[in-house]
Amino acid sequence: KQIIIINGPNLNLLGKREPEIYGHQTFEQYFEVLKDKYSDRVDLVYFQSNHEGFLIDKIHEIGFSYDGIVLNAGAFTHTSIALADAIAGVKTPVVEVHISNVHKREEFRHHSYISKNSIGIIIGFGLRGYDFAIQTFL
Ligand code: DQA
Repeated sequence: KQIIIINGPNLNLLGKREPEIYGHQTFEQYFEVLKDKYSDRVDLVYFQSNHEGFLIDKIHEIGFSYDGIVLNAGAFTHTSIALADAIAGVKTPVVEVHISNVHKREEFRHHSYISKNSIGIIIGFGLRGYDFAIQTFL
């Protein structure tokens, strides 16, 4: 199976960014763990961008051939109709992930434009949420 993890803005700072909310591990470290764990079954790719358009371009590029998209759109989750349209427009199914429990946080994090076009949502389980999301595609 071909699965991509797409992380949006500020998620390149994982490990350094607000560690009390997002933890101390960098995503690059955790990605190696995931790649090893699923190496016999999954061709796992990672893409991160801070730019809305680059995230959309990537979704278009892989969205008709890959088996799954694990998407943490960061703050674009709460703002981007364009990203929501991109996932509605491709064939590859999306699982939405959030590291933190957004429902325990500010009101503006409670709404997601991504959820409506996702097959499911995993929220609040830290980086393990990405692992759970991969399992839904197997
Ligand atoms: C996040 C939650 C968002 O509200 C925030 O803007 C992020 C990360 C999470 O993974 O918990 O950047 O998507």
